[in-house]
Amino acid sequence: MQIVESILSLRGQIKTWRTAGETIAFVPTMGNLHDGHISLVKKAQTLADKVVVSIFVNPLQFDDKQDLARYPRTLQDDVKKLMQAGCNLLFTPDADVMYPQGFEFHTFIHVPGMDDKLCGLERPGHFDGVATVVTKLFNMVQADVAVFGEKDYQQLLLIQKLVSDLNLPVKIVGAPIVREENGLAMSSRNQHLSDAQKQQAATLYASLLELKQQLMLGVEKSALLQQFHLNLTEAGFTLDYIDIRRAEDLQIVDLAVDKELRLLAAGRLGSVRLIDNIACNLA
Ligand code: PAF
Repeated sequence: MQIVESILSLRGQIKTWRTAGETIAFVPTMGNLHDGHISLVKKAQTLADKVVVSIFVNPLQFDDKQDLARYPRTLQDDVKKLMQAGCNLLFTPDADVMYPQGFEFHTFIHVPGMDDKLCGLERPGHFDGVATVVTKLFNMVQADVAVFGEKDYQQLLLIQKLVSDLNLPVKIVGAPIVREENGLAMSSRNQHLSDAQKQQAATLYASLLELKQQLMLGVEKSALLQQFHLNLTEAGFTLDYIDIRRAEDLQIVDLAVDKELRLLAAGRLGSVRLIDNIACNLA
């Protein structure tokens, strides 16, 4: 596996592959890789000849500076995991490569209809930071296809819209959430949880599954949401939201019409913010 830090070296290798007629799949990450990330790399391998992974902890998308400071940087471990997974090229730019002039006068990409709901409400500026860095990375890597995890479902929709609106020549593929044995969605944040908290955290997924079951039995939506909000609060969460949304754009559902749904929840256990979601098809 090649490791490159500069855009010039990255583009040089991409050009060589392109000249040889090879296709490229891209997996952008912020490092601290776990099995969820590796599943994205495996998916990427089924979609193109070569796989490029990037590791860049993007300051622009952290609304909470403490969260940025304590975001785990584990490059050596990440390199080992990527080599084992068969990644072809790792791109590890630093902030001077990504933002040579700093952030203040940098161009921003804003995708409308995302920061006014769900995680967007809790994390001002976060999605602009994601959209901006992902656009830059797409322009640097110029892949045929890019793979994103469904755990960040709102992020996945944001990127699909960004690519469609700006006619970016890359196909976006979503990959299923990878879970711990107890159902907890894998996340770099899980390592900040104690063993007891990890058990508590599993109630997030369990609640979504039960919410789906009750919804499919026809129980009324707002009563359900109230009940599950209470359940999760009693389980120790400071809940940001639990909600039932239209899968295609996360708009508020009209259950008489909308059948493809996404059930989503986010909340804090102690200082650790966790998110999860599942699909629900009422058709
Ligand atoms: O999902 C992530 O890890 C990040 O938001 C991403 C897509 C790598 C952009 O920094």
